[in-house]
Amino acid sequence: MGSEQQGRVAVITGAASGIGRGLAEYAAGLGMRLVLSDVDGQRLQALCAQLQAQGVEAVACVTDVGDPAQVERLRDVAVERFAGVDLLFNNAGVMQTGYCWEITESQWQRMLDINLRGVINGIRSFVPLMLEQGRPAHVINTASLAGLVSSPMMAPYNVTKQAVVALSESLHYELSQLQAQVSVSVLCPGPVASQIMASNQVAGAADAQLSEMLDASIRQGMCPLELAALVFAAVQEKRFWILPHDFIKPAVERRLQSILEESNPVFQY
Ligand SMILES: NC(=O)c1ccc[n+]([C@@H]2O[C@H](COP(=O)([O-])OP(=O)(O)OC[C@H]3O[C@@H](n4cnc5c(N)ncnc54)[C@H](O)[C@@H]3O)[C@@H](O)[C@H]2O)c1
Repeated sequence: MGSEQQGRVAVITGAASGIGRGLAEYAAGLGMRLVLSDVDGQRLQALCAQLQAQGVEAVACVTDVGDPAQVERLRDVAVERFAGVDLLFNNAGVMQTGYCWEITESQWQRMLDINLRGVINGIRSFVPLMLEQGRPAHVINTASLAGLVSSPMMAPYNVTKQAVVALSESLHYELSQLQAQVSVSVLCPGPVASQIMASNQVAGAADAQLSEMLDASIRQGMCPLELAALVFAAVQEKRFWILPHDFIKPAVERRLQSILEESNPVFQY
C-alpha cells in the first residue's frame, strides 16, 4: 500500500493533534507529501518540523477551517508547493456539551462554523481542483459515531456530525453520477485518544461531570495511528463508510429500527 500513496499529496485539517496528527504521521510513513493545517500555529509548526527532520516533504499552513478565505488559501498553498492534491482530510473539529437550550448563540455558531462549515469550505475549495486535475483523488470527511446516533447533552456535536454525514452522502452521489475520478469517505469513529475535550466550553456542574466522563473515555480510546491505518485501508478500497469501532453498529441498528417502527427513540449508553 505504501508504494501506491508514495509521492501523492495529502492535505489534512486539524493536523496538529489527535486523529489529524495520527493521519499525518501515517501518511508520512507511506511516503506522502503533506500539507498540514491547523488553527494552532505553534503545535502545527512543531509537527511540521518533526516530520521534515525525518525527511518528509511537508508544508504547514495555519488555517481556521471556518473561514472560507483561509481554506481557499490552504488550497493555493498546496497547489503552489506540490502542484495538486490527491487526498483531502476535512478533519478539524471541536466539542460542545450541555443542554441544547442552554448552549449560547456563540457556542452554537462556533460548532456550526468549525464542524460543519469547515467541511463545506473544504469541499467548495478543493473538489473543483480535484475534478480539474483529471486523476484519482479522494476526500475523507471526519464525522463521528455522533453522525449516526444522537446522544443527550451533545446536540451541537450531533447536529454538525449528522450534517457532515448527509453532506458526504450527497457528495458521493454527485461524484458517482458524474463518473468522476474523485471519491469520498465519511469517517465515523467512536472514542479515539485525543485532546478534543480541551475544546469543550463546559457550562454547569452536571455538564462538567459529563465532560469528565467523556474525556476519560476518549483518553482510553483507539490510538490515532491504529485508526489512521484503518482509514488508509478504506481509502485504498474507495470505501464510503468508515466505522472503525464495531461496537457502535448495534446502536445504529436500534436507531434505524426505531425510525422504521415509528417507536420513540430510547437512549442507551
Ligand atoms: N477523539 C474522538 O473520540 C473522536 C471521535 C469521533 C470523531 N472525532 C472527530 O475527529 C476530528 C479530530 O478531532 P480529535 O479528536 O483529533 O481532537 P483534537 O482536539 O485532538 O484535534 C483537533 C485539532 O483541530 C484543530 N482545530 C480546532 N479548531 C480548528 C479550526 N477552526 N480550524 C482548524 N483547526 C482547528 C485543533 O487545534 C486540534 O489540533 C474532529 O472532527 C472530531 O469531531 C473525534
